[in-house]
Amino acid sequence: MSNVLIFDTTLRDGEQSPGVSLGMEDKLQIARYLAALRVDVIEAGFPIASEGEQASVAAIARVIEGPIVAALARTNERDIDAAWEAIREAERPRIHVFISTSDVHLSQMLRMSREQALQAAVASIRYARRFTEDVQFSAQDATRTDLDFLVQILTAAVEAGARTINVPDTVGYATPSEYRQLFESLAARVSGLNPAVLSTHTHDDLGLATANALAAVEGGARQIECTINGIGERAGNCALEEVVMGLRTRGDAYRVTTRIDSSQLLRSSRLVSGLTGIPVQPNKAVVGANAFSHEAGIHQDGMLKDRNTYEIMKPEDVGLRESKLVLGKHSGRHAFRVRMKDLGYELSDDQLTEVFARFKHLADRKPHVSDRDIEAIVGTQLGGVEEIVGLDYFLVTSGNSAIPTATVRLNLCGDRPEFSACGGGPVDAIFRAIDGAMDRSHRLVDYRIEAVTDGANALGQVIVRVDVQGQVHLGRGLSTDVLEASALAYVNAINRGLQADGSTEEQQGEPGRLSGSDSDGS
Ligand code: KIV
Ligand code: ZN
Repeated sequence: MSNVLIFDTTLRDGEQSPGVSLGMEDKLQIARYLAALRVDVIEAGFPIASEGEQASVAAIARVIEGPIVAALARTNERDIDAAWEAIREAERPRIHVFISTSDVHLSQMLRMSREQALQAAVASIRYARRFTEDVQFSAQDATRTDLDFLVQILTAAVEAGARTINVPDTVGYATPSEYRQLFESLAARVSGLNPAVLSTHTHDDLGLATANALAAVEGGARQIECTINGIGERAGNCALEEVVMGLRTRGDAYRVTTRIDSSQLLRSSRLVSGLTGIPVQPNKAVVGANAFSHEAGIHQDGMLKDRNTYEIMKPEDVGLRESKLVLGKHSGRHAFRVRMKDLGYELSDDQLTEVFARFKHLADRKPHVSDRDIEAIVGTQLGGVEEIVGLDYFLVTSGNSAIPTATVRLNLCGDRPEFSACGGGPVDAIFRAIDGAMDRSHRLVDYRIEAVTDGANALGQVIVRVDVQGQVHLGRGLSTDVLEASALAYVNAINRGLQADGSTEEQQGEPGRLSGSDSDGS
């Protein structure tokens, strides 16, 4: 069976999801998980977008061992220079250049002729090849491009030195049979294609991203571009976990394999969901909370007799284990380190100290700490943010016939400002008191709460989005007390806001969004 390369673009296309803005530590953490998952390529970002993006891509390029690290560039020298500067220290760097090829993009967005786009593609691939042999070319909006022109530009791209040819369904328009036929046509008509790899990149506007990626494999694609949890622009991208488990479970139909360690899928999904604040729907294929739950009596009966009756994948194959009650307040640092290792976390001494302190704090309140609790602690602690504002204490009074009131004391660079405020509810009162203690106001954009495990003393995780100085930042808080979790999440978002150096702002404006309007040739 031949191998299909898995190209993960969570950190580039995924980061273009509405409302998502990851900091450098978050991105590094995701990249480490992707390496543990054994993806073949990590698309680390679009370095020209901002200095912060450039620095994050460079940091990933420096530390990641194993996967190729790719950086995106439009077809101009400035973009390519920035991409190369960011990835030059990677063990295996790749420059990924793209330009739109459909008439609607060329005439309405780029204001270029087909010929100009072809020249720009060729010149930029040749330019990128001066830095590395590993150059990928993407024809944006390929599925709405005139087929003869697509064949022409891809043939020219291969001739210019592109080793991977990506054929994106940028707007999620193709049907599976059309997309498969497109790959068959390109395989037959792009001369000199071999040994270049044909790649699929699909969006989920019609819910067909995974089906289209699998159809492309049938048509000859040997690289799949995808993101964890399918996050991405608009309706998102092809979900890595779906396409990988599709190929694995139906190896008989697709006759290809991947190098992915599927037992890492669930933890990668949880990490990305936690860091981006994008929840995973319960009925999501492969990694949703209900993906392996059987509710109906007939199903449960079948499962008790033979798991094959209703289960086509084993839960443990995607990393879903029975949560063991592993540790309690008497557990020591050594036992904790061993458990962390079992769960797949390799932490530095400093990180372990931080996470162990949080574990001890939790174990004082919760007699049995489960694997899921530990994963949640690790998720909130790592990729952490400098604590400019700390929560010293809070006190809340509330009831069905009382006005909710909160008093909060903060730790603000050595000062201990205190403030009391009333609110529409206890959470609102806490947030107002925090604002009062800081003598500035913030706008709560979104508030979400979920239980990490079952049971009355479950850890509660609160995820907020807060507008801090005109920029929306994500904050997370974890506690057995949901009011404390709320306060911690709010303070966490404020800390992110205070720490932001302006790079977020740039990432969200042009040219961070891929209009390609600067694709004016090199
Ligand atoms: O959807 C798309 O066309 C892209 C390209 C930049 C590869 O994301
Ligand atoms: Zn895309």
